[in-house]
Amino acid sequence: MDAGVPAKKAKLGNKSTEKPESHQRMYVHDFDDKEGSATLVFSLPEKVGALADALKVFEKNKVNLHHIESRPSRELKDCYEFFVSCDNVRGGLQETVDDLKGCTNHLQVLSRKHQDQKDGGVLLTLPNGVEVPWFPRMIRDLDRFANQILSYGSELEADHPGFKDPVYRTRRKEFADIAFHYKHGEPIPKVKYTDAEIKTWSTIFKELTKLYPTHACREFNHIFPLLVDNCGFREDNVPQLQDISNFLKDCTGFQLRPVAGLLSSRDFLAGLAFRVFHSTQYIRHGSKPMYTPEPDVCHELLGHVPLFADPTFAQFSQEIGLASLGAPDEYVQKLATLYWFTVEFGLCRQEGQLKAYGAGLLSSFGELQYCLSDKPEVRPFDPAKTSVQTYPITSFQPVYFAAESFDSAKDKVREFAAIIPRPFSVRYNAYTQSVEVLNSKEQIIDLARAIRGDLSLLEDALKKVE
Ligand SMILES: [Fe+2]
Repeated sequence: MDAGVPAKKAKLGNKSTEKPESHQRMYVHDFDDKEGSATLVFSLPEKVGALADALKVFEKNKVNLHHIESRPSRELKDCYEFFVSCDNVRGGLQETVDDLKGCTNHLQVLSRKHQDQKDGGVLLTLPNGVEVPWFPRMIRDLDRFANQILSYGSELEADHPGFKDPVYRTRRKEFADIAFHYKHGEPIPKVKYTDAEIKTWSTIFKELTKLYPTHACREFNHIFPLLVDNCGFREDNVPQLQDISNFLKDCTGFQLRPVAGLLSSRDFLAGLAFRVFHSTQYIRHGSKPMYTPEPDVCHELLGHVPLFADPTFAQFSQEIGLASLGAPDEYVQKLATLYWFTVEFGLCRQEGQLKAYGAGLLSSFGELQYCLSDKPEVRPFDPAKTSVQTYPITSFQPVYFAAESFDSAKDKVREFAAIIPRPFSVRYNAYTQSVEVLNSKEQIIDLARAIRGDLSLLEDALKKVE
């Protein structure tokens, strides 16, 4: 999924194809777009030479193409849609966009960098005039991320197990299209998984569920049977994202939304601020059921989903997301590292024993056993140190961080967030599903009123239980 991203490679793939394990990496990515890299989608009529003419526009304006993908257009009859990543090193991007408008049926500029240069959206101007990196304020603003993906989800690297399988590649396009066109509030389309896909799921489900009772944390083992009862978590069934999303909403207000490709760390973490988890829907290639170079539905559903139904873990995840909103880039990177060592690869101590709660562990048969062996080093979770710890992306982790509890991890992340240089605080309003920026006296007075209301309720409830 990281193919075509020119600068830094995605921190997703375990390139070691010898490793017989599922060893997925997190769905966040750092994208060096300093050179004004852009992604565009345009449509061309299905006729000989149309693409060649369009590509000449890039050549004429000295814009380098890093990646191009095509698919039949859903909106325009007898047209093809092209998804293109390019750079702006020599400054001809705007001319390219203008020229393309003359020879394409439809053109959309997806990349934020370019869009921002045009409409000033890279920065968010707060009411007091302070400018910070743009972040979503309403839950529906997350729709914007679908158009800011760093690469389209159907693109595969040459060493991907499904690279030479045209059926698999077509299938991946179908999944990417679902996510690309998804809008907040719509039901997530249900997918009929094929027999081959169910077989892959079944192999993984069978092996991992043997380990959960002894290796997974208490909260995970509490919730997993509920997913079996309510969401169709079975060996012979790949659960549907919408069913899971409904279940999570009832438990903690978390919800899933499908994602068509790779998101930047900033965008991915911003989703968590709204209790939204961007989830893949496709499944790994059947030739290697215990290995995947990127997150797939097995990783999301078996690794991530159970703990999003736990109230304390849900709050912990949201804290990381809220801390990232409007934060400087270096702190977003630190928060992404914290996410890596907690939500993806976290350990915790329970009744004197280490247990796994990270999704990268709970969805990997090999690393789940390895992480609790005496081979890796386990350090106490300390955001100041954990957030700057380097880590490999192509092998099992040499170092893990163990939290005393989700509550203590949440408090530590909150303390860490307090040192992030931001000229405002944020609060999530669950009634309006929006983020409130607290940077004026009036807003803080409103917050005090809301808290006063809650305190009255607390006082009243306490009296009634006495
Ligand atoms: Fe993940």
